[in-house]
Amino acid sequence: MQGRPLSFRHRTALAVGAAGLMAVTGAVFLPGSASAASTLGASAAERNGRYFGTAVAAYKLSDSVYQTILNREFNSVTPENEMKWDATEPDQGRFTYGSSDQIVNHARSRGMKVRGHALAWYSQMPPWAQRMEGAPLRQAMLNHVTNVATHFRGQIDSWDVVNEAFADGNSGGRRDTNLERTGSDWIEAAFRAARAADPNAKLCYNDYNTDDWSHAKTQGVYRMVRDFKQRGVPIDCVGFQSHLNNQSPYPSNYRTTLSSFAALGVDVQITELDIQGANPTWYANVVNDCLAVPRCNGITVWGIRDSDSWRSQQTPLLFDNGGNKKAAYNSVLAALNNGQPQDPSSPGNPSSSSSSSQPPNPGGGCSATVSLNQWNGGYVASVRVTAGSSPINGWTVSIPQAANVTNSWSTTRSGTNFANVD
Ligand code: G3I
Repeated sequence: MQGRPLSFRHRTALAVGAAGLMAVTGAVFLPGSASAASTLGASAAERNGRYFGTAVAAYKLSDSVYQTILNREFNSVTPENEMKWDATEPDQGRFTYGSSDQIVNHARSRGMKVRGHALAWYSQMPPWAQRMEGAPLRQAMLNHVTNVATHFRGQIDSWDVVNEAFADGNSGGRRDTNLERTGSDWIEAAFRAARAADPNAKLCYNDYNTDDWSHAKTQGVYRMVRDFKQRGVPIDCVGFQSHLNNQSPYPSNYRTTLSSFAALGVDVQITELDIQGANPTWYANVVNDCLAVPRCNGITVWGIRDSDSWRSQQTPLLFDNGGNKKAAYNSVLAALNNGQPQDPSSPGNPSSSSSSSQPPNPGGGCSATVSLNQWNGGYVASVRVTAGSSPINGWTVSIPQAANVTNSWSTTRSGTNFANVD
């Protein structure tokens, strides 16, 4: 029988196929050719199908510099303002989707993902909703969630269903808003409405200043997500805006934050990244932390050029006003390219192609897993092929063209990129 193809993409160095179990044992030794991806989106995609996205403003799509960078570098977009309540329902019951459709069509026609932002948020509510309270506001909010999520059904990878519902400071509690005053169950009600309207989109809670694991706000959101998971409220992901600056610096426990949330059984996404002064080290740290957490699906920066930023004076983005790559860009791309390549056996990542982690034919079939031992500039990939309940007559590990087999043992090699064992 033939093992399922294992996919490798890597920068340089060594890959080693290692032991099979039970009836089969084999190994293949592969130095890879240098194959560093040259764009952010391509490199992220090679790391378990992650995305590298940006916030997009519809009115800037006609700017050729802007569009060129967008189309070249990014494989996910988030409408910066166009899907918000004030934009999509300016008058109660009158829905407008012109600019949001424009972004979605631009993205999807180019194979980019779309993050929907945001269905329910106390800010950027239309004036008519700002004036409402109580049951009528609750009903208006749910109607809004249902209409917008239905309009975009099937087109959104992840929705920020609820945005910024927790208070700043040390309380760890909810933000006092007219939505909160409709009853503290308004968040789960919004999630249930979104799930009913678009069952296949990932549903996220999104907030800022939740990067530091020790902060009360982070812990408050964590308790809510844990409670939602325990009670079956349909939440799939948590968004960390990660607007980092001198007052909210990159926290050394950022990876702990991401992995702790992921351990609750949700994906984590970095949704609005920008860093005051575009500190290259902080940018690389954020990328490395995301790559270290299998359920970190991707990173979105909050704009393309510094001049596109809501905090343009802080020059927090990856491209300067002229669209030139900054040092932070190079730092991010290097961190992505240095990250672990595609690992089909990575658990818990819905976007991973996990073909090798599941026995393709339980009983008589086999399964394969890949693990990596990585160092600066190279790695050893260990391929383990495990038989099912009955012996395997033969298996094949296929290595893509990016890698060349230069050595092997206990195997039969055919060509430069296959290892066979009978
Ligand atoms: O479109 C109008 C324009 O017609 C008008 O002439 C102009 C005058 O000020 O305002 C324009 O709208 C502005 C809009 O951005 C588009 O540029 C709004 O005033 C301004 O408030 C709005 O700011 C947005 C802000 O959210 C509103 O809260 C920013 O662009 C956007 O980057 C920012 O994004 C938020 C996320 O949604 C949530 N997390 C924080 C993040 C940063 O604040």
